[in-house]
Amino acid sequence: MPLRVESLVSRLSSRLSSLFLPQKAAMPVAVGRSPSPSPSGERPAKKAKVEGVEATAAAAPAAPKAKGKPSDPPIPPSFPGLTTEEIVRRTEEEMSLPIEIPRTYPYPLDYRDKLVLAPMVRTGTLPTRLLSLYYGAGLVWSPEIVDKAIIGATRTVDPATGVITYSKGQGPIFTTHPIEKPFLIFQIGSANPELAVQAAKVVEQDVAGVDLNCGCPKPFSTHSGMGAGLLSTPDLLLDILRGLLRNINLPVSAKIRMLPEQEPTLLLAAKILRTGVSNLTVHCRTRSMRPNTVAMWERLGDIVALGTRRGLPVICNGDGDGWANWDKIRSVTGATSVMLARSAEKNPSVFQPSGPECTVKVVIPQLLNIAEYTENPWGNTKFLLMQFKPSPAPISSLSKQERKEASEVTSRAKSAQDVVDKFGFELGKGKAFMDELEVRLKARPEWNVWEARKVAEGEGVVVEAAAEEDGSDESNDGSPDAAAAEDDEEAATNAHPA
Ligand SMILES: Cc1cc2nc3c(=O)[nH]c(=O)nc-3n(C[C@H](O)[C@H](O)[C@H](O)COP(=O)(O)O)c2cc1C
Repeated sequence: MPLRVESLVSRLSSRLSSLFLPQKAAMPVAVGRSPSPSPSGERPAKKAKVEGVEATAAAAPAAPKAKGKPSDPPIPPSFPGLTTEEIVRRTEEEMSLPIEIPRTYPYPLDYRDKLVLAPMVRTGTLPTRLLSLYYGAGLVWSPEIVDKAIIGATRTVDPATGVITYSKGQGPIFTTHPIEKPFLIFQIGSANPELAVQAAKVVEQDVAGVDLNCGCPKPFSTHSGMGAGLLSTPDLLLDILRGLLRNINLPVSAKIRMLPEQEPTLLLAAKILRTGVSNLTVHCRTRSMRPNTVAMWERLGDIVALGTRRGLPVICNGDGDGWANWDKIRSVTGATSVMLARSAEKNPSVFQPSGPECTVKVVIPQLLNIAEYTENPWGNTKFLLMQFKPSPAPISSLSKQERKEASEVTSRAKSAQDVVDKFGFELGKGKAFMDELEVRLKARPEWNVWEARKVAEGEGVVVEAAAEEDGSDESNDGSPDAAAAEDDEEAATNAHPA
């Protein structure tokens, strides 16, 4: 019998925790969850001037507003015509085959043992990413940007701040800063291997990794086969990953949602893990599940186990609160890293090991200073402010009334100065924030790796690692031992004299 979890979840979400999770783990998952700002958790942008937004605009015209509960379109199965037994057999077969495109990178990314910032259209702009890194995010994902939106964009660098902007047509498509490069993963929306490669090539010099969005359930993504649409076309999904693996000299990863049944999910994961990707992130909800439905952590362990057999990390996404429930997620899923979306959207200091800071007193002043320094468009800055929730006690000493007033100030503000005047702090501290961020990031191992790359490139040393495209190469069978051996070899093969 196939494992039909989704139907249980939609009807009995409140009982699911007690059915599947250890009693202690179940409670905090459902408690204290505030409703997400959108019905799906992945919402289209409204304005066309901020990174990620053009991506959605480029994908399709805005869908008409749904009234009441949106009805789910029929979702084609991922592996039509296969019995559960056949799917299980094929999963084992996939796991026994060698990695298709084994790659070694001069500077591989370490996806393990981290809290990471999720890709978030509109929310995951440069200020959010810098704040998240400042507070301890191990890696940060860009918002999804559709291939066609970034292809052909012009790259400019602000000589005063170092901010890099990719623009096309009316405004910026994607903005970054060199300081985040060693930790930044660029997420692509695509349903075409050639376009995905072209898009990745545009930004390759400014990011540390490339990720394929295979989870966005919104019609603007799925109608053209992107996002969660790829879950129904696994061959296309895999071809896009193969294209990126063969042509981009950066680690490639994928972010998927779970399929309604467990066995096809495992076959899909096994196929993705075999391509040669460096990481798989799993949003522990299905395409049709709403964000306020409890994430199905209990199903992730099987996928993590497949990753372990390949020597690859699997990141858990869904209902992560930061340090507050990291241990719990680790113990339920076996995943060592957790990707945070809405908790970081409400307060990016959630990455801080000692717990989050007060948004009103600490994080909002920082946000406005970073936004001023990086010249983030006010429309986006205001949007970010609106997502911040005034921290409750004990994080904040503000009374309920003061928190209410703070929310009113941010929602009425027409400029950063309006907030500054009411809250009583100073702007002009963006540079100091960046200096402090640099100190913090320099203490991390990734920084030294990238410094070494800069020096090597400056000295004319070739730091590119060659792709081994021959699928018959059995030198890496994907086992943990083979992966470890490959890691050892990297140091020796990274830099070849030109
Ligand atoms: C505002 C917003 C924008 C999002 N945009 C993206 C996106 O661009 N790409 C993507 O893969 N997921 C996107 N998501 C989904 C999140 O990355 C994440 O999978 C989902 O919110 C579940 O994580 P959470 O429970 O920690 O919120 C978005 C979610 C939110 C709330």
